[in-house]
Amino acid sequence: MMFWAAALLLLSSNAVAEPPERDDADLMSFVTLPEVRALKWDIAYHDRERLAPGYWFVAPYATISPDKPTAKYQQYQVGPYIYDDSGVLIWAGAPLYDNHNVFDFKPVHNIDNDPYLSFIVGWEYDDSKKGHGAIVDHHYNVKNEVQAPENVHDFNMHEFNIMDGGKTALACTYRGKSINLADFGRPTEESFVTVGGFVEVDVETSEVLFEWDTFDKIALHESNMFHSDDRPAESPGWDYVHINSVDKNEAGDYLISLRFTDTIYLISGQDGNIMWRLGGLESNFEQNFNFSKQHDVKFVSSNDTHHVISLLNNGADERGRDELLSSALIVELDVAAQPMTAKVVQRINRPDSGVTKLRGSARVLPNDNIYIGWSEYGYSSEHASNGDLLMTARFASDRYSTYRSYKGEFTGRPTRRPDLVASVYGTREQDTTTLIHVSWNGATDVVQWKFYAQAYEGGQSVLIGTSNKTDFETMFIADGYMDFVSAEAIDADGNVLHTSETKRTSTPSDWKAAGWVGSGSGPSPDDPSIMVAASADLSSGSSDEGAESVGGSASTGSGDRSSAQYAEAKEVAKAVYKAYDVIRGIGGIILFLVVAGTMSGAGYALWRVIRTRRVRYQHVPGEEGIPVEEIHLASNPRG
Ligand SMILES: *[C@@H]1O[C@H](CO)[C@@H](O)[C@H](O)[C@H]1NC(C)=O
Ligand SMILES: *[C@@H]1O[C@H](CO)[C@@H](O)[C@H](O)[C@H]1NC(C)=O
Ligand SMILES: *[C@@H]1O[C@H](CO)[C@@H](O)[C@H](O)[C@H]1NC(C)=O
Repeated sequence: MMFWAAALLLLSSNAVAEPPERDDADLMSFVTLPEVRALKWDIAYHDRERLAPGYWFVAPYATISPDKPTAKYQQYQVGPYIYDDSGVLIWAGAPLYDNHNVFDFKPVHNIDNDPYLSFIVGWEYDDSKKGHGAIVDHHYNVKNEVQAPENVHDFNMHEFNIMDGGKTALACTYRGKSINLADFGRPTEESFVTVGGFVEVDVETSEVLFEWDTFDKIALHESNMFHSDDRPAESPGWDYVHINSVDKNEAGDYLISLRFTDTIYLISGQDGNIMWRLGGLESNFEQNFNFSKQHDVKFVSSNDTHHVISLLNNGADERGRDELLSSALIVELDVAAQPMTAKVVQRINRPDSGVTKLRGSARVLPNDNIYIGWSEYGYSSEHASNGDLLMTARFASDRYSTYRSYKGEFTGRPTRRPDLVASVYGTREQDTTTLIHVSWNGATDVVQWKFYAQAYEGGQSVLIGTSNKTDFETMFIADGYMDFVSAEAIDADGNVLHTSETKRTSTPSDWKAAGWVGSGSGPSPDDPSIMVAASADLSSGSSDEGAESVGGSASTGSGDRSSAQYAEAKEVAKAVYKAYDVIRGIGGIILFLVVAGTMSGAGYALWRVIRTRRVRYQHVPGEEGIPVEEIHLASNPRG
């Protein structure tokens, strides 16, 4: 036994020292939700004390156009994801829309007193569906699906902006129209252009309540993309303005951003006239700064005389750069002054001095911190209102990006029950140990798990231990062979939030082959009440080690077990856990061969862990779609 503990520790420390090459080290994996492979984060804190409260909301995608669905098994990586600001997964939303690309995923607080989520579900790869705007409640049930307006190819990916009260939402539109080229001095010619516009729609009926577009409002010469000598184009035509954000103030006017005119416009909600232009060739403001190729232009505040707006000043695009680095800008506009003035009240440069050529977001948080999504690889940063850098984070992966990144508070109370998986290992009656894993996808308020077992089906549930929740998934090691296992999710006030199903503990199909040297053909389940009663000191606390979610094993000193045996069994359990932690990142084929070849004691347990891992996790599709297992993709039910 001790030999195995030592050997395992040695193996794991070697593995830590020299991690083998692997293609999925950037992804999390879970025993309870093997189909979820959420992205890991690299985070650097500069002043953690001053971070705003809240979670991160991202929607990773591998390619911005929808992928053809594959008949092969695919884990969930693409779609809406919530993390806490330590990078711990809170909600994997990919199963809700089956790995579809989603955009503009954020928490919504202006509908009623409950928090909601909203996002855009992208169009189908074969154009069979246009996509839609989704509003999801805090039980993760879909509340509304807002359909794309008429005559557009898709529900445009840039914006799904729920207005106060939750009755209406704003979205961008792209439509091809034929236009006369008189503005380019060619009155006898026509070309198709992609007209940029926006709609305000009823979220219940998808009815369009207000509609506006650039056709006959914004001339070709304002475009930085097309020029007077360009050849006319067929449908869908020149993307000459490229609308990428829309917001609305209390006065009922609309603020829009057109990337290909480097201009922000205020559109009258009364008559659709352009009230002013900021930036570009025809700015109405006196300003001592420039911006270009901007994204996510939003009101921070707005009244009759002043507007404060936030934006991401990319200062670059796919064609080149106008500025050395991208920045977020908070700009104050005085529209009562003559002439009107615009001044930068805060400029926050991209912390790594890079440029965000495409996409991105910038938002002022309720505590006045500023949260910026620099888009590529999920790079994002949080700043104090004076601009101080508090934190940067990015996906550990180069394979994914997110169009926008948000931070905000949210309370998730899934309707679905927590997921639990238990398995038992051991070589003789005295050293059986039950490993229990539990998670609850989307729950924000769990601080502790309580674990229960029953002596027989329908028997009394006996508390066998507790463990603080420190990660998405919590592992608990119980001494003995516990069967009919369940777990309760406990909040900070000690309330039970929900209970998992009662699950049978899985056993090896052949105990002897798995190293059993005890009596009979394998152990039978222990009676948890006898074990607990025999225990002098059932520890309610757990032996959580650092950030690892090792459950404290319930120390159950039943009479016929010496304390030395317990100590030994616990050493082994710890060694197994450590090795498990290493292996779940590795898919370690070498460890597998070494350990599977010996098959005894803890080696067996490790073998089980690796075997499970290998079956479920080894074949991870890379960006190029490396061939994967021949398992057909089952469409997951919503919820
Ligand atoms: C803004 O751009 C114009 C035109 O390129 C340039 O002349 C001016 O110096 C720029 N202003 C600032 C503050 O960079
Ligand atoms: C309008 O907003 C500006 C800037 O936020 C503020 O200084 C001013 O007091 C506001 N005016 C009114 C009438 O509220
Ligand atoms: C579990 O959490 C509680 C409350 O935060 C804390 O007092 C206790 O020390 C934690 N237990 C362990 C083992 O970390």
